[in-house]
Amino acid sequence: MSPSREGPEAAAVPGTGRIPCDLVIRNASSLCLVPPGKQAAAGVPDLGVISRGALAARRGQVVWAGPDSEASAVLVPEAGCESIDASGCTVTPGLIDAHAHLPFHGSRAGEFSLRLKGVSYLEILKAGGGIMSTVRATSQASDEVLLEGGLSTLDRMLRSGVTTVETKSGYGLSADGELRLLRLMRKMGEVSPVETVSTFLGAHAVPPEYKGKPELYVEVVLEEMLPAVKQLGLAEFCDIFCEPGVFDIDQSRQVLMRAKELGLAAKIHADEMSWSGGAELAAEVGAVSADHLLFASERGLRAMGEAGTTAVLLPVTVLSLLGDAVDVRHCRDQARLVRQAGVKVAVGTDYNPGTAPSSSVQLAMSLACRIFGLSVEEALAAATHGAACALGRGDRLGSLLPGYQADAAGFEATGYEDIPYRLDGVQVRFVVKRGKVVFRSR
Ligand code: NIG
Ligand code: FE
Repeated sequence: MSPSREGPEAAAVPGTGRIPCDLVIRNASSLCLVPPGKQAAAGVPDLGVISRGALAARRGQVVWAGPDSEASAVLVPEAGCESIDASGCTVTPGLIDAHAHLPFHGSRAGEFSLRLKGVSYLEILKAGGGIMSTVRATSQASDEVLLEGGLSTLDRMLRSGVTTVETKSGYGLSADGELRLLRLMRKMGEVSPVETVSTFLGAHAVPPEYKGKPELYVEVVLEEMLPAVKQLGLAEFCDIFCEPGVFDIDQSRQVLMRAKELGLAAKIHADEMSWSGGAELAAEVGAVSADHLLFASERGLRAMGEAGTTAVLLPVTVLSLLGDAVDVRHCRDQARLVRQAGVKVAVGTDYNPGTAPSSSVQLAMSLACRIFGLSVEEALAAATHGAACALGRGDRLGSLLPGYQADAAGFEATGYEDIPYRLDGVQVRFVVKRGKVVFRSR
């Protein structure tokens, strides 16, 4: 592969063949371009690694990548061009979290303790705890507190190499509560250097006033919430927790179809704790992603492959639900099915106070290898270009080929293997978002 030939010519200074740039990263021990392609089939995806690599960007886009030894001859730094010395660093596309529930308020440590005593996640939810306890805590928190909490999470993520995060509502569960969270999500995206992608998850749980009558709550989602979300332009995606005892397959179909009619793209929490046909439904409605999939059928997974639906694996949730809804051997076998089904694979944190109290994409990558059996290459591809595909942005995020958005992270590591290898996270030296340095550790 010759990344330096893939488009920068268009930006060359006339008559010189040299490429102007306003940001240059020099001397990376290892530069991983992550060229888009099928990374799904079990095996080793080509990460497009260049040792002693250099990368140049202009106006927020990558314009050149290649060996550092060629950079001086090829590039023409413009006045004020920012230069980063990446010696000792592994540079990758900025990490992308394809699935996070944010913002919310409160801790669920008490529930954690109960679950250790044998009470299941779904039993706690049924008894009015779980998601509902976070809904209560969130409704009591002020906008300022929620915003501050959300921004501090995004900041923590940025410092660990993350440049894009999907954020889901779902702790409002009323029209006002959901719209409030979606507005706060928009604000978070305006304030933070991290790019946020908004998902409406009004159908996250059935609130107590609709207990035993989920169809009436679904009516509110369909008739009140979705049209308002659309009219106010507050979300790009619509998601639903499709799970026996929460929302069934017909209700999920209704919500996602209505969302699509209104122009929102579909996502689905599918087959997380048991099979209910979520993967099949994802394919049927042309969902951009189906997430969890721990009990998805082979048929459903293959249908997703044909429909171009990305599979989002959420290993932190598996760790958290061990001994409750899932076991490791099953998850590993299931991940094999996912990887053999011809789907694009993404990894996310599922950051939430119930099943995934960790916002670390690096940890998610690490656990994706250890629990799901992904190779280190698959894990990096899944947390970059795979995640970009899960957000419908595979054509502009998640890769450092010329033409892609210049979002990059420099890890204090001599190779990309270190990132999933470590369980406590690799130090990040710098983060670049849209061609600008947004974090430097020194
Ligand atoms: O992805 N399953 C539904 N939603 C989250 C959990 C949210 C919560 O427990 O607060 C999940 O696991
Ligand atoms: Fe989730």
